[in-house]
Amino acid sequence: MNIAHIVGARPNFMKVAPVMNALSERKNVVQTLIHTGQHYDINMSDVFFQQLGIPAPDVNLSVGSGTHAKQTGEIMMRLEPAVTELQPDIVLVYGDVNSTVATALVCAKLGVQIGHVEAGLRSFDRTMPEEINRLVTDQLADMLFTPSDDGDENLRREGIPAEKIFRVGNVMIDSLVRLLPLAKKTRVGSLPSRYALVTLHRPANVDDGERLKGILGSLLEVNQGLAVVFPAHPRTRRRIADFGLNAGQLRLLNPLPYIEFLGLQSRATVVITDSGGIQEETTYLGIPCLTLRENTERPITVSMGTNILVSGDPQKLRAELSRVLSGNAKKGSTPPLWDGHAGERIAEILVRRSLR
Ligand code: UD1
Repeated sequence: MNIAHIVGARPNFMKVAPVMNALSERKNVVQTLIHTGQHYDINMSDVFFQQLGIPAPDVNLSVGSGTHAKQTGEIMMRLEPAVTELQPDIVLVYGDVNSTVATALVCAKLGVQIGHVEAGLRSFDRTMPEEINRLVTDQLADMLFTPSDDGDENLRREGIPAEKIFRVGNVMIDSLVRLLPLAKKTRVGSLPSRYALVTLHRPANVDDGERLKGILGSLLEVNQGLAVVFPAHPRTRRRIADFGLNAGQLRLLNPLPYIEFLGLQSRATVVITDSGGIQEETTYLGIPCLTLRENTERPITVSMGTNILVSGDPQKLRAELSRVLSGNAKKGSTPPLWDGHAGERIAEILVRRSLR
């Protein structure tokens, strides 16, 4: 069986690693890895390949940044000849980034089978570019690998036949389980023993000057009582400068490698974020997570995990933070099948299907 994996952006890398690993132990499987180049900085891409033990990509399409149409279109134009030449039996795509949807469009029209890893998540907010990517990719995919039962439910409601849906659990947690022991040994600079770890990069939060100013104001307030450690996405750092905002006393860091960031998460007093994946990682780690969004495509992190949606509301953030600081943080548990073996389940399903 000839399997191609297409990845492009930082959150894809911790998902592809366990699937490639599990497939490498199977007989008669040939794997090809294509990197679209959506993320290209060393600390947004290469360092993740090294730490996660992902083989160097066979092909790099080097598309770089651009508007949504430009980036998606570039990926499609550069990917089509590569897939045509490769003739894979199935192409696996990951998550909800522009590389995911661009690949799905190319493969669907070439008649190449598509497997979507992390299918079925829905925020029901179509102003999010990722929601558009999820909706389109899931409609085009032939095999949909879901992390939780809300995913299965969403897909069924959208008319996806049950035989295409495979609940395998959370592949990103596979990488976390594997590397957590190493992560716990890392140290990033000299940080106080208690701190709030912050990440922020969603266009809705950082591309609007007033909203970003309000969030930074809240974080500066948090910082009065609890040190704020803030590895900043390049997009966010640029916006802070563009809008002439003051990140003042916050400990602004460059984006961190996977293992160091995981170490920081595992020791944090609280995590404040607008990321998708971090809502899941904190739920697994049992660390309180305050999410700076109005909605989440990962509702299980709220219903079962440690996640609380605080939107951009300073009062809500203040209230939830004081709960954490007074030792009354929300407790959570680990969702089913978030156990470090999701990649193996995907490999098993793919191999069994190819034998039919
Ligand atoms: C993308 C994903 C988002 C994911 C995020 C994780 C889409 C629609 N969005 O958002 O779902 O949560 O990745 O990081 O696919 N840049 C660099 N160096 C890089 C990459 C980007 O400086 O290596 C800067 C560029 O200015 C670029 C901007 O970041 O224009 C945004 O990058 P882009 O890939 O368009 O989206 P992200 O915000 O990273």
